[in-house]
Amino acid sequence: MKAIAVKPRHPNSVHLAELPKPRVSDVPNGRGVLVRVLKVGVDATDREINDGLYGNPPPGYDFLVLGHESFGIVEEVGPSVRHVKPGDYVTCTVRRPGTSIFDRIGRSDITSEETYYERGINLLHGYLTEYYVDDSEFVVRVPPALKHLGVLSEPMSVADKAIQQVYEAQKRLLVWEPKIAYVTGAGQIGLLVTLILRLRGVEVFTIARGTKPSLKAEIAEAYGATYVSTQSMSLTELAKHTGKPDLIIEATGNSAIAFEAMSVLGHNGAIVWTSITGGQRKVEVHTDSINLNWVLGNKLLLGSVNANYRHFESGISDLAQGEIFYPGVTQRILTTPVNGLDNYQEMMRQLVDSKEALKVYVNVAEG
Ligand code: BGC
Ligand code: ZN
Repeated sequence: MKAIAVKPRHPNSVHLAELPKPRVSDVPNGRGVLVRVLKVGVDATDREINDGLYGNPPPGYDFLVLGHESFGIVEEVGPSVRHVKPGDYVTCTVRRPGTSIFDRIGRSDITSEETYYERGINLLHGYLTEYYVDDSEFVVRVPPALKHLGVLSEPMSVADKAIQQVYEAQKRLLVWEPKIAYVTGAGQIGLLVTLILRLRGVEVFTIARGTKPSLKAEIAEAYGATYVSTQSMSLTELAKHTGKPDLIIEATGNSAIAFEAMSVLGHNGAIVWTSITGGQRKVEVHTDSINLNWVLGNKLLLGSVNANYRHFESGISDLAQGEIFYPGVTQRILTTPVNGLDNYQEMMRQLVDSKEALKVYVNVAEG
């Protein structure tokens, strides 16, 4: 079986590897699900793993199969599996439990352990291959009518978790009904967060570098958000126009903006940081002023990573609701298909170089 792999910590090592086809019986107690992979999305995490910034192979291997955003079709299930059957479309969660209390209650996404196990990222092979087997506990159904968006299930789960976490955390305020949200970054997470917040009736400003006209701006506006280019207006200037936001979701992949956002948030507001920044960047920050304003404004900074089974389910529901409110918009994110695992170089090239590619994904098989 072919797989797209890297040698973690060796920059630009993407290559084609061979793996034996897995069997349903590889998972004990009849709980295995064998999935034929149809599409796999790639993102900045895959790029940074190929840059050698992070990622680790599974024990006993010197390579790591990439790919954590999966969409496939069930081919076979073990005798104890009830919630999916052959022919069902599915996606699969990314993180696998360690041993902390959170891991044991199905919340490995908030594990308290430093070491985390993530398919295609850390210590476990990913989905950029022909078949995978996993415990049914991690396999999530995708409705056939959402087949065209199935490959966005994982990023949507991450976006949904971020939003759910901040609403959860803001219960500290007794009443919190955010009116204005800034979403910094208009990559896949920025746009999907824009959708989720619009579904919740929030006024959204989606903010990114590029000027209009652009596909990103069109998608954000089709969701009913306002697109703002930081080349025409800084966050501070924007806040003078709109009033300070109640909520900022940071998804630029740029740590400088993550900190800049801290100076425009309104009282009682919250910022969620979702970017993974693997570099070594340093910037100067006005610490006195931020400290003062954050204390006087009872503000909250929340980090959010990964997603568990329930976030996948709610993410898929939100994709469905998005199709009802904003038909045909979300699929415009899926700009850049690459056909076949053999085209791994092209996949990486699109991911690294292409200015037009909003979402790169590999069509692994028809189905
Ligand atoms: C993935 C998450 C993962 C995170 C950290 C993201 O790209 O989508 O599932 O938890 O990287 O590795
Ligand atoms: Zn990701």
